[in-house]
Amino acid sequence: MGYPLNQSSQIRRFYRWFSGSGLNLMTVNNCGDPLDSSAHHFKLNTLQFEREVIERLGPLYGFDEDNMWGIVTFSGTDGNNHGIYFGAKSLEKRTGLKPVVYVSEAAHYSSRRLADLQNLQLALIPADVHGRMIPEELDKAIVADRPAVVVYAMGTTFKGGVDDMKALNAVFAKYPDVAVCTGVLMRHFSEVTCPTQNTGTS
Ligand SMILES: Cc1ncc(COP(=O)(O)O)c(C=O)c1O
Repeated sequence: MGYPLNQSSQIRRFYRWFSGSGLNLMTVNNCGDPLDSSAHHFKLNTLQFEREVIERLGPLYGFDEDNMWGIVTFSGTDGNNHGIYFGAKSLEKRTGLKPVVYVSEAAHYSSRRLADLQNLQLALIPADVHGRMIPEELDKAIVADRPAVVVYAMGTTFKGGVDDMKALNAVFAKYPDVAVCTGVLMRHFSEVTCPTQNTGTS
C-alpha cells in the first residue's frame, strides 16, 4: 500500500528545453479553445502545446484523429472537474435530466466534492479490499430514471485499485434507458466519453 508515484521519471530533458526556450521567464495562459484556430486568444498562450498533447494522446486512447476535441487542464482535480462537467452537460442536453454521478468510495475525493460543487446527486459505491468498485453495489445504487455520469478509477490513490470497467458496464447494460457517460480517473489524466445515442455505455 502507498501513494502510487513513479520516482524514476526522467524529466531533466524537459526542464533543459523549458529553460532554454525562455518559457520559464514568462507567464502564459491557457484560456480559450486549443482546437479552434479562428478564436482570438491572448497572445502569450499555451494553445499550441495543448494541441500537441491532444493530438499525441487522443489516438492512443482510441479517439478518431479527425473527430476529437480536448483541453489540457492544470491539475488532476481540474481534469476531474471538466470531465464531470462535460459529461453532465452532454447528458442534460440529450435527455433534459440532471444525471447522477457514480464513483467508488476508494476513488480520489475530488470527484465527491466536484459533484457537490456542480450540484449533482452523488452515488458513492462501496469498494472491495483492493479498492475496486463492487458491481453488485453499483447495481443496488442505480437510479433507473436518471442518466449517469460514471467515474472509473485507474489506480486509486492509496491502493492502486483499478475499476473493472467490463463488469461495471455490464451492470449498466441491464438498464438500457439509462444514458451513460463514462470518465476515467487516473493521476493527472481524465477522459470522458459519451455515446451518441441515449443508451448504452462507451
Ligand atoms: C485521480 C486523481 N484526481 C485528482 C488528484 C488531485 O490532483 P491535483 O492535486 O493535481 O489536483 C489526484 C492526486 O493524486 C488523483 O490521483
